[in-house]
Amino acid sequence: MAGPHIVVDGVSKRFETSADAVPALSEVSLAVGRREFCTVIGPSGCGKSTLLAMIGGLVLPDAGQVRIDGQPVEGPDPRRVAMVFQDPALLPWRTALDNVAFGLELRGMSRPERRRIAGDLLGPLGLREFAERYPRELSGGMRQRVAIARALAIDSEIVLMDEPFGALDEQTRLLMGEWLLSIWTRARKTVVFVTHSLQEALLLSTRVVALTARPGRVKSVLEVPLPYPRDLESPGLASLRATLWGEIREESLKTMGR
Ligand SMILES: Nc1ncnc2c1ncn2[C@@H]1O[C@H](COP(=O)(O)OP(=O)(O)OP(=O)(O)O)[C@@H](O)[C@H]1O
Ligand SMILES: [Mg+2]
Repeated sequence: MAGPHIVVDGVSKRFETSADAVPALSEVSLAVGRREFCTVIGPSGCGKSTLLAMIGGLVLPDAGQVRIDGQPVEGPDPRRVAMVFQDPALLPWRTALDNVAFGLELRGMSRPERRRIAGDLLGPLGLREFAERYPRELSGGMRQRVAIARALAIDSEIVLMDEPFGALDEQTRLLMGEWLLSIWTRARKTVVFVTHSLQEALLLSTRVVALTARPGRVKSVLEVPLPYPRDLESPGLASLRATLWGEIREESLKTMGR
């Protein structure tokens, strides 16, 4: 289909609380192409999770619009958009395998079939032996991997990931990034990803969108025209990192100075 896959068109959002109103996003516009890996980065509290929730139809904008394939997003559509949240949010009464298979069950897929698909996803995540464990029996990092497998199981065109590796140690995080890239190249999904890590953003993304301190606006959009797999030590990546850090540093200082 022609045209961008996801269009965020001038969206603004304020959260009203009993005490005051917090402007979270201000006139954010962004177009994400089909099969792009677009990463959103910006200081804490600048509205990244809000933006992702809006693309997923979980939060509606006060102004502006989000469109997927030209159609306005008016609510969640789990067949088309899968989400990995900042907190894993697993179902505690289901095993790892049955958590991953949950979306497939909702679609009426047979038990052996959905368990096979879920098992195939857990293997490369290092969770084969933990398939029959309950979330309380898993480490934080394992729970997050189960949540990622659950989002991928439904095989939607769009995957929204909100700091999916934030709770993982650095080594696991690098490996998870490699694994995600292999899925993304094979399955050709459109990914919108949120991270605080410049390195992760540059290793994974086709494009990095930097937001300003709250209320989030688009500060800059950085194309990353480097082939995969990428080398952190390469001069191309190092120079992009310096550029991106320049943008983010300025905005983070504003947040810290508040
Ligand atoms: N449901 C809500 N009710 C009230 N305020 C909210 C709500 N959700 C978010 N906010 C406020 O909106 C602002 C943006 O929040 P958001 O979670 O989108 O930021 P973020 O960029 O994801 O931050 P972090 O990097 O810490 O995850 C924050 O000031 C937050 O307090
Ligand atoms: Mg967030």
